[in-house]
Amino acid sequence: MCGIVGYVGSKKATPVLINGLLSLEYRGYDSAGIAVIENNELSVLKDKGRVANLKQMPEIENLNSSIGIAHTRWATHGKPSRENSHPHLDNSKQFAVVHNGIIENYHELREFLTSKGYSFLSQTDTEVIPNLIHYYYTNGISDEDKFLRAVKSAVDDLKGSYAIEVISKLYPDRVIVVRKDSPLVIGTTKEENFIASDIPAILPYTKDFYLLDDYEYAVIYKDHIKFFDNTLSSRSKAIKNIEWDATAAEKNGFEDYMLKEIYEQPNSIRETIGSRFKLGEKCSFDDINLSKEYLQSINKIYIVACGTAMHAGLIGKNAIEKLCHIPTEVDIASEFRYRNPIIDDKTFCIYISQSGETADTIAALKLAKSKGAKTLAVSNVIGSSITREADYTIYTHAGPEIAVASTKAYTSQIVLLVIFAIYLTENLGRSDVATTESLKADILDLPTKLESVLAETEQIQKFADKIYTEHDMYFLGRGCDYNVAMEGSLKLKEISYIHSEAYAAGELKHGPIALIENGVTVIGILTNPDLVEKSISNLQEVVSRGAKTLIITNQKLSNSNFNYIINIPEINPLVSPILSVVPLQLFAYYIAKNKGLDVDKPRNLAKSVTVE
Ligand code: AGP
Ligand code: GLU
Repeated sequence: MCGIVGYVGSKKATPVLINGLLSLEYRGYDSAGIAVIENNELSVLKDKGRVANLKQMPEIENLNSSIGIAHTRWATHGKPSRENSHPHLDNSKQFAVVHNGIIENYHELREFLTSKGYSFLSQTDTEVIPNLIHYYYTNGISDEDKFLRAVKSAVDDLKGSYAIEVISKLYPDRVIVVRKDSPLVIGTTKEENFIASDIPAILPYTKDFYLLDDYEYAVIYKDHIKFFDNTLSSRSKAIKNIEWDATAAEKNGFEDYMLKEIYEQPNSIRETIGSRFKLGEKCSFDDINLSKEYLQSINKIYIVACGTAMHAGLIGKNAIEKLCHIPTEVDIASEFRYRNPIIDDKTFCIYISQSGETADTIAALKLAKSKGAKTLAVSNVIGSSITREADYTIYTHAGPEIAVASTKAYTSQIVLLVIFAIYLTENLGRSDVATTESLKADILDLPTKLESVLAETEQIQKFADKIYTEHDMYFLGRGCDYNVAMEGSLKLKEISYIHSEAYAAGELKHGPIALIENGVTVIGILTNPDLVEKSISNLQEVVSRGAKTLIITNQKLSNSNFNYIINIPEINPLVSPILSVVPLQLFAYYIAKNKGLDVDKPRNLAKSVTVE
């Protein structure tokens, strides 16, 4: 998910590769490495840590090759370590591969290769690729274009997302690349060619680019490039002249990381779902083996987290209680750790943390462990501290989140918690197949439905343009809509510095309604068909007192006198927060932009809160 660089030309490759990696650093990573072909052998330098460490390795000075591949890794399978860093070689050390993305079926492929005598040095999903290439290369591939055909046969076996570069000591004049759902571009000149995950890494060398499509192959030599489609028929491709300014390009053309991450959500959710279930099959988590007897013994679940992660936990609670009928409490980690919660070996505790480094959440986990509970971490960062403390970990695979205000991690956390709730009910033997299968179908529909919500961005922007000078706003909802209101209100506070509060709509009359006066903005979330009429009545109460209203809904509202209505697609209420939160993320974003604020680095906040 992080960065790839490649070079074929006449000059020394390593400085181009290192500089390219340095300019991809903004994407976030935990390890870096390069491979070049030196005296007809593959030379690999790699380790966990910064690109600067790689640059300082003494051996790097001796590499004079003019062909090479490079990688910054953001671990998805296996913790950050030298062995897990890319490039990876096949057992015969003839092929070197770097890969961004996730190979969902790596388990089966690893078993297949093991049965053929291959062994593995890393825990990564990636290491199957060079070995598969070797397997096909030595098993029945015809001589013509043998290298390319072996790569293609290997790639045909892969499920998931990938941008891949391959070099071979048997073919020291070329790099083969292919991609699906992970970015890869090729920069070109008459005498040398460059490869990168995105344009800025190679903008210093050229403005002429080929933008590779999914399933397209390129065989890249120093002075020419051959393109092939998925059947290996050759195809021609037009050069695009890119006159981008490098900072915009870093963010894939988005003005800020936050906006980029909001727009990444259809894809990050696809990654979260990954291969965890198929319709008609039970949900599975590779690393979790909770027996039915243990699951039946659980009498309480705690979900513990901070901030946005805690808000995701509230939606998770709803799914677990509805699907599994296990009482579930959500706690703020900084409260949980000091309130002496009732925990024993029948308590199951779930800790959610994007960064996996939040001090309060980790302390709350240690507390539960010390009282005999089993603990599960839900994290986005492989090998992070919380994953090392917990008994079990499940990863959101949302990709690195750079903006301080969490967006895509939140939606991925919810998806994962709902899938986990399905897993629990299926393994408890309590699932009603019709209910879980229709929920699974709705989960699979989420990315497409999210795309249609994102298509309405302009409407939100217009509303934000009108009200960004206000000082107070209120968010209302019932049930999960209330939980989403809490997240919408937090987003607004964090990046726009506007005071806002979220209330359960039914609570309004018990006090907060005193704050409603002419012209104040109230945002209502109405997605649960069972509660919508009741929430409408509460919203009418604020309209009668002169409030301006923005409504996010998937219901047909008859005769409403609300000012703005954003319609979102209908979906199972257990996952509707994933759709209804997106307009609120955009709302906070555009208000902050209108105020001229730095949305990615809001004042006083840190991305990962490693102190109490
Ligand atoms: C989210 O926008 C916030 N910056 C913050 O609430 C965050 O969710 C919280 O600090 C928890 O972080 P974590 O998920 O990395 O543990
Ligand atoms: N899935 C691969 C790994 O864990 C690649 C991760 C990346 O995209 O950096 O090594």
